[in-house]
Amino acid sequence: MDKIVLEGGTQLRGEVELSGAKNAALPILSATILSDSTSVIHRVPNLQDIRTMVTILESLGAVVDWDKDQGTIQVDPKNINKEEAPYELVKKMRASICFLGPLIGRLGKARVSMPGGCVIGPRPVDLHLKGLECLNVKISIEQGYICAETEELRGNEIFLGGRFGSSVLATANVMMAAVRAKGLTIIESAACEPEIENLAHFLMKMGADIEGAGTHVIKIRGVDSLHGAEHTVIPDRIEAGTFMIAAAMTRGDVLIKGVDMAMLHGVNDKLAQAGVKLERKDGNVRVTVPNDLSVVDVITLPYPGFPTDLQAQMMGLMSVTNGISVITEKIYPERFMHVAELNRMAASISLEGQSAIVKGVKHLNGAPVMASDLRASAALVLAGLVADGSTEVHRVYHIDRGYENIEEKLSKLGAKIQRVKE
Ligand code: UD1
Repeated sequence: MDKIVLEGGTQLRGEVELSGAKNAALPILSATILSDSTSVIHRVPNLQDIRTMVTILESLGAVVDWDKDQGTIQVDPKNINKEEAPYELVKKMRASICFLGPLIGRLGKARVSMPGGCVIGPRPVDLHLKGLECLNVKISIEQGYICAETEELRGNEIFLGGRFGSSVLATANVMMAAVRAKGLTIIESAACEPEIENLAHFLMKMGADIEGAGTHVIKIRGVDSLHGAEHTVIPDRIEAGTFMIAAAMTRGDVLIKGVDMAMLHGVNDKLAQAGVKLERKDGNVRVTVPNDLSVVDVITLPYPGFPTDLQAQMMGLMSVTNGISVITEKIYPERFMHVAELNRMAASISLEGQSAIVKGVKHLNGAPVMASDLRASAALVLAGLVADGSTEVHRVYHIDRGYENIEEKLSKLGAKIQRVKE
């Protein structure tokens, strides 16, 4: 197992190029099986989750050609003949659930291992199942597998709002099945994340008839067949936010290239309130900190609110900002595994239900810490950038699921960071 070793105290300076968004690439790759001709997907990041996605595609019968240097994946789904996403692969990546909709759309049946809870808390799939049942899919749970079957997908009106708001991958699954359903489907309370819009654009290039993606009401008129298409994945807004926060924490001067700031309103707003200067120019953004930073309270919400996937990193920033801030998690109320690890580095954070009370400290101390999940591990790396002395982040396979070449990108910005084999 690898670990990341950091020496804190360097201001990040220079330019960084964003990778394609993992959370857009995953459902887009699963959607390729809806047609029986080849699709070509560009700007796919080279990440562990994408490798798992490719393994599942191949196990279903697709032929996949991945040019890792170009970031292009070609999927020939002509011979898709299996309907099963097995436990061994689903347990590695919960997002494997996004094969449910495409398999039903393509084969009329699917057998996808039920994803369990994970370290960020329980993650139910009721909205996925409810949405598909509304499309005339019969669903049963057998020996830990979601077994779905339909004689004919039929369009319907579907309300997809849940206890914690809309669901990103449930919206993706229902949309991917509905493109092949008879008649009109209207998804109410759909997730409006940019990754859903990007998926819809790909489906439309394949011949789907979709209106309203990116809003809370999506209308889909089913079509008889879809064809392969060429598509480029959007830049990763969570990676962009992570680098913005890293630049702010180190009081650096970083130009983030290829960032779509329209996707980051909820983040920009909070960073600007904290005193981070974000200057946009030609599709890039320069991040600097001209004066002292102030604390801000943050509540995570579905898009366009502040994303849960940047909560841990923002907590890292607030833990070294003078004052007291409250960070409230509304999407995954248990997503606080990073708190104990940040406190091991001398942060002062206490938990009060769904909120973390963060008392800014002057210095963090380097320490050996344990990554618990993808975004928590990013927060620990950022903390290591500003901590006194050396920080070792263990279990970095979590970070490899979602950040492409993280240590290379941070090194280029001047960070003292290296990966060590254990
Ligand atoms: C996606 C992202 C993940 C991000 C999350 C929330 C991908 C691959 N992953 O995950 O990085 O953190 O959105 O922005 O895109 N819920 C239910 N029932 C369901 C489904 C979800 O109650 O059937 C709840 C979840 O427990 C959570 C909330 O709804 O509280 C939002 O989850 P959801 O949007 O579904 O997350 P994912 O799509 O799995």
